[in-house]
Formats: sequence, C-alpha cells, structure tokens
Amino acid sequence: MNNIDKIKAELEQFSVSSMETLEQFRLKFLAKKSELQELLSEIKNVAPEERKSFGQQVNELKQKAQQLYEENKAKMEMQAVSAGSDLDVTRPSTALTVGSMHPISIMMNEVCDIFEKIGFDVVTGPDVEDDWHVFTALNFPEEHPARDMQDTFFIELHPDILLRTHTSSLQVRTMEKQQPPIRVICPGRVFRNEAITSRAHCIFHQVEGLYVAENVSFAEMKQTLLYFAQQMFGKETKIRLRPSYFPFTEPSAEMDISCNICGGSGCALCKHTGWVEILGCGMVDPSVLENCGIDSKKYTGYAFGLGIERMTMLKYRTNDIRLYFENDVRFLRQFRSAGK
Ligand code: DAH
Repeated sequence: MNNIDKIKAELEQFSVSSMETLEQFRLKFLAKKSELQELLSEIKNVAPEERKSFGQQVNELKQKAQQLYEENKAKMEMQAVSAGSDLDVTRPSTALTVGSMHPISIMMNEVCDIFEKIGFDVVTGPDVEDDWHVFTALNFPEEHPARDMQDTFFIELHPDILLRTHTSSLQVRTMEKQQPPIRVICPGRVFRNEAITSRAHCIFHQVEGLYVAENVSFAEMKQTLLYFAQQMFGKETKIRLRPSYFPFTEPSAEMDISCNICGGSGCALCKHTGWVEILGCGMVDPSVLENCGIDSKKYTGYAFGLGIERMTMLKYRTNDIRLYFENDVRFLRQFRSAGK
C-alpha cells in the first residue's frame, strides 16, 4: 500500500518535456520491468482481505499512467513537427470574421423591396450594351453629347458596343419583350468616363423604374414616388418635382426630397436649400414606346431612374462616394446590422 502511494505521487509529479523524458516515463511506469508493473507481483504478500482493493488501485494507477503517456506523446509529437520552423501548431487560431453585405447591395435590395411590395417585378440585364438599347431607342439624337467619348466607355474597335451609361437600357429591353401592362424595377451597375472625386465615380449604380399601361398619368407617378420616398427616408419626408429634360421622357422632371439631415432648414449637405436631388423621371416619350413596338395611342407610361450611391450617402450620411469602392473593412463592417 505504501508503494502504491509512492508511485502515485511520482506519477503526478513526473514532468515530460522532451522525447527523452517521455521514454523515461515509459520505462518507469509502463515497461514490463517498471516499478508499477512489478507492483502486481507483490499481491501475494498482501493480506487476503486487502487483495481486492490492492488490485483495483494498481489497475487504476496503470490506466492513469497509460493516459498520461498518450497525452504527453501527442504533445511531444506536435512539438517535433513545429521544431525547426516558425510554425507553432499549438497556437490558438485567430477568430473567423463573418462578412457583411455591402451598403450598395443593402440599398439596392431596399429600393427593390419597396417597389416589389406595390407590384413591380425586378428585371436585370447586361452591363455591356449596344448603342440601340442605351441611346438610339431612347431618342438620343446622333449628336447628343452623352454619346461623346467624354461620357461613354466604348469597346475599342467596336463603336456600337459600350458599357451602359444608365439602366434606362432595361426599359427598352423590357418593352421589346413584353406588351403592357408593364411594371418593372431594374437595378444595375453603370459606367461613365468621369474623373473620380468625392461626389462622382466612373462606376456607380442605378435603379430604373418603368410603368406602362392604359391611362397612366403623371399624378400617379408623383404619388408612387412620394410613397417610395417616405418608405425609404421616413413618413415626414416631402418631395418636389422640378421641370427638366431627358430625351426619353416628355414631360421630364427631377425629384428632390426634403433634406433628411437638417429636416429642411438648410445645411451643408443640401447646400442650404433644404432639398436634395435623388432621381430623374417623366412620362415615357411616345416615340420611345413606338421604337420598342408598343402602341403609343393606346398606352402611356412613366419612368424614373435613381442613383444608389447618392441615396446611400444620404441615408447613412457619408460624404465621400469613393468609400463605397475602396472596400476597407473598417467602413464596410459598420453596415452589418443594417443587412438582411
Ligand atoms: N437615365 C437617367 C440618368 O442616368 C435617369 C433617368 C431620368 C431615368 C429620367 C429615367 C427617367 O427613367 O425617366 O441620368
């Protein structure tokens, strides 16, 4: 019994720090001739009434020794793998971080959600387009400045192929395929050959809307856009329409919303006017309907196009469009909770 206690104490104190000490451990506790193994042969010297408990204790000790040996062996093997290299296989790994949705994607989804709830279908199309869908069908005259190399990225050697400068090309694609009633919302990336500043970028995103049916009116468009603005920026948001010009709408307008930073009293963002522009809109020009095979005597429609970056900057109150393209995770991480 004394020997058991002695060996138990030794087992607990034995520290394995190398392959050599591991081998010493094995010889001392597990090898055939080890002190621990020899203990069992002493059983004949133990009083008969104590034999059972003696045997049990020796066996427990053996199991413990075997378990400690396995653990230490695994540890020593790991150390051997990393020895001689910088690799430390025992070092805890860094926590995996979960990605987040990009604020532009969040905003595009939000805009589409609002319109989907009132019956618009989401439609997408190609970034690389032809002149017909981006300009000609939309009534851009031959000499219109938007076709100029200043604004449009053309595919070299192919003046008819270009990167779309607006998502209005999807109006044409939709109307060519489908007869009214048409009610679509078209999110997408657009490209313009512009200098990159805090307010402008050569790549940005738009969402285009189109509604064509019998007796569609300007008043309906205004009400739909008011509904949208209030869903997006809050119930107290006001809108105003200013007359404007687009080749593909007649009449055309630009829509402002009341500045959501100062509430309309005037600040740097709204340049002290109390209003910020968010979209262009108008009644689809009858010749655009005809270009796409739709009877302009029977049908009328409205269309609008809004800039996603601008809306995102307004909603999240950021002042530099370039932040959305740098993909600095410290910036992107802040939008995690806003994602769906
Ligand atoms: N395509 C225009 C642009 O990129 C925006 C726009 C204006 C779209 C009026 C429309 C519209 O559908 O009716 O500036």
